[in-house]
Amino acid sequence: MSRKSVLLHVLPIAGWLGMAALPALAAPPTGGWIFDGGPDFPGFTRVQVHKDHGQKGDTYSGVVTSHWYGDLKMDDVRVDGDTLVFHLFNGNPRVTETDIVLKGDARSVHMTGKLWYTDFDIPAHAATRTALKALDFPTYPLPPRRVVKPLARAETPPMGWNSWNKFATDIDDKTVREIADAMMTSGLRDAGYLYINIDDGWQGERDKSGVLQPNSKFPDMKALADYVHAKGLKLGIYSSPGPKSCAGYEGSYGHIEQDAKTFAAWGIDYLKYDLCSGEAFYHTPETVYAVYQQMAEAIAATRRPMIFSLCEYGRFDVGSWGRDVGGSLWRTTGDIEDKYETMAKIGFEKNGVPNHTGPGGWNDPDMLEVGNGGMTTEEYRTHMSLWAMMAAPLILGNDVRHMTPDTVALLTNPEVIAIDQDAAGIQGLPAKKDGGYEVWTKKLKDGSTAVGLFNRGDDAASVTVNWADLGLKPAKVRDVWAKSDLTPAAAQTVAVPRHGAMLLRVTP
Ligand code: GLA
Repeated sequence: MSRKSVLLHVLPIAGWLGMAALPALAAPPTGGWIFDGGPDFPGFTRVQVHKDHGQKGDTYSGVVTSHWYGDLKMDDVRVDGDTLVFHLFNGNPRVTETDIVLKGDARSVHMTGKLWYTDFDIPAHAATRTALKALDFPTYPLPPRRVVKPLARAETPPMGWNSWNKFATDIDDKTVREIADAMMTSGLRDAGYLYINIDDGWQGERDKSGVLQPNSKFPDMKALADYVHAKGLKLGIYSSPGPKSCAGYEGSYGHIEQDAKTFAAWGIDYLKYDLCSGEAFYHTPETVYAVYQQMAEAIAATRRPMIFSLCEYGRFDVGSWGRDVGGSLWRTTGDIEDKYETMAKIGFEKNGVPNHTGPGGWNDPDMLEVGNGGMTTEEYRTHMSLWAMMAAPLILGNDVRHMTPDTVALLTNPEVIAIDQDAAGIQGLPAKKDGGYEVWTKKLKDGSTAVGLFNRGDDAASVTVNWADLGLKPAKVRDVWAKSDLTPAAAQTVAVPRHGAMLLRVTP
């Protein structure tokens, strides 16, 4: 018997007994309401609740609309008296969904809860059908699955600089020009760092025709590209397939072809395409593939070669299909931080499936933090050594206008860069793990082998390698950081500082 029918039976008895009449039966509100303000993330606009009368009683369903995520369906809906309790899935598998509560009446409601990292408690008022309709969020078809052949292919792991790790959204035209200058004067360009990539924070609004404009910090993107090109460097930019970039700027949702044309017209050579709010729209392997494919095809249609960098945090085994959507590199992980623990976790453990890497497509364990100040020189040496052993893209993340001699030495050592850029494009692997020590090997094109000796422990230690155990018969051993030769016997036991690394090139 339903709760309602129980009450119908009880009410006459209550009257007969002279008891006070029971309050009207509580039920959650139904209808549509428009939010009055609220946090920018996710920019809630409206909530709609619908009640269905079924044989087993009433069931509720609903949709919450926002600028970041469009329509999110209410999940796990349950009724608690006059409130509706539900979950919202924003497409991020790492977010633990928590209860969101909607309470009120036909005229106004309150929605309280948490989505990702934002708490909210916001009122909404009833609105006309027309006003609610005006907040409809558009959806767009995705292309049928195809394999894209890009015009730009990275034969070796891309090398360059990116604004995010050091500057976040505090980046502007003047700084990018100064960085380009410093790439020349510091010798970084000549060491191979070619791309100057503007990350999140350059985007402005769209004009009446939908053409995306840079914000006021970037008065003339084409002129900036010309400036960078004149220095023999290349210019990269950043966008998202979602309506919003990760920092809340305009994404390319609904404007993919148009934005690719804009980037090409500016003279862009590299696009980092970051899933961000797109994770709510594209949270299956098929849809993520399709939207990256769509951008790759849009780039190809411009006929301007652009390196396509996929940033979807390694979801859905991206390395197994990244090349098929024209990707030259794909992130294997969430964001790096300028901390040894985070860098080491990514470098040692979250560096992608080794077989996926190779000429034309690279596992990307995220950009470098070397020179940003949060790690010791030896920790940064581990960072560079690991990235070189992995054949990872070397995208600088520091302020190259101001570098210590140590930083310059870490970033420009030609023998270390040669290991990273080796034409065989093999991702090195741990050959031996012994407590806090790891010995990695990487076969190089000329028949030699790079050997990385890593001390993950908190104390200095001597690390012993046995050449035979590694299948090596060295005639020559080169300490590439020290730029000196060692005898094969002496190189079998070496002192490695805490959190430090030694990098050897062993020639048979
Ligand atoms: C994400 C990416 C970062 C950076 C920021 C910008 O977090 O993983 O590399 O691009 O977005 O908002």
